[in-house]
Amino acid sequence: MKSIKDVNFKGRKVLLRVDFNVPLDENKEITDDTRIRESLPTINKLLNDGAAVILLAHFGRPKKGGFEYEYSLCHIVQYLSECLGRPVKFTQRLLGEDSTVEDLARDLKPGEVFLMDNIRFYPGETKGDEALAERLARLGDCYVNDAFGACHREHVSTATLAKFFPNDKFFGHLMEHEVTNLKKLMLNAEHPFTAIIGGSKISSKIGILENLLDKVDNMIIIGGMRYTFTKAQGGNIGKSICEDDKMDMALDLLKKMDEKGVKYYLPVDSVVGDRFDNSARTKIVPAGQVPDGWESMDIGPESIKEIREIIMESKTILWNGPAGVFELPKFAKGTNVIAASAVLACKLGAYAAVGGGDSVAAVTQLGLADQMDYVSTGGGAMLEYLEGKTLPGIAAIED
Ligand code: 3PG
Repeated sequence: MKSIKDVNFKGRKVLLRVDFNVPLDENKEITDDTRIRESLPTINKLLNDGAAVILLAHFGRPKKGGFEYEYSLCHIVQYLSECLGRPVKFTQRLLGEDSTVEDLARDLKPGEVFLMDNIRFYPGETKGDEALAERLARLGDCYVNDAFGACHREHVSTATLAKFFPNDKFFGHLMEHEVTNLKKLMLNAEHPFTAIIGGSKISSKIGILENLLDKVDNMIIIGGMRYTFTKAQGGNIGKSICEDDKMDMALDLLKKMDEKGVKYYLPVDSVVGDRFDNSARTKIVPAGQVPDGWESMDIGPESIKEIREIIMESKTILWNGPAGVFELPKFAKGTNVIAASAVLACKLGAYAAVGGGDSVAAVTQLGLADQMDYVSTGGGAMLEYLEGKTLPGIAAIED
């Protein structure tokens, strides 16, 4: 792996792609700084080596082309500067407007940081435009990609730019950590290997479910999507979430799992509510017997017990997607117990990996993130990797 680990960047001017796509509240305060914190080891390593660092990052999905206040990285400059303990140079000017960006990049000294504004303000970014890549390449003398969360995008700053540094392109620490762990999961997992896949839609998880068929011993299907399976099997799901047009897909998947000898587990009971609210009336019912007008909001106690046992007997655990509506405390138990069980399994020697925005949020909210072996910072990127796709941001460095 072409890692920054073994290279000294003293005197280099590094173009470093990071993922600073963090959520902000209505006052433009950062509500989850994970991605910024996770990129600090790479930035600090480069600065401590004596490099000048030019940061490239996207923020949201601006559509107009050109500067837009809402999508400006100006909102994170102060916080980043506090994290790094040094000023961060920044301008809202774009390349080509005048020479501000070029001047700042040229005059950047070793140990200094310059954050360019949202790279998606350039219409060429998302098109992989070579001309834009060439102009960016002129600003630095090497390229490091540490933006795992964006490496499924074939964009200028995540992929095209690497072409201009055939001998000077590297993975940052975060990328290296993510790629190493994903390879371990996909190529080198210890068995029994249990995948716990949740979320609301089977359609968004079918790629990963299919790709894991040849790899896992146990597949636990939780979250709203399990109701597409239940309905397809003839159960009553009340007003639980369901993709009616994906019922054949669900049955087909169960058949494939049978054929491949994968033991699948669909929760046997549910906590149902009479409305989507934390003050809802609740009851526990068998999974295929949700009363009309009620909605499944979490897995029930019997399912929790059985899932915990499967987790505790596993050597590798991959979890993507919550068990229920964990944002509402009344329906968070299933998700919380899965998180706690995975941590306990880790303590007993298993390897546990968590990915996907919601399950990562749940683990973080419970303060358990640092007790797992691997918590991915990439939602879509991790999902695509687990689907078996080639990620352009990884391929561009590895090739
Ligand atoms: C993310 O938030 O998942 C990454 O930063 C990628 O963002 P995108 O989906 O807008 O490309």
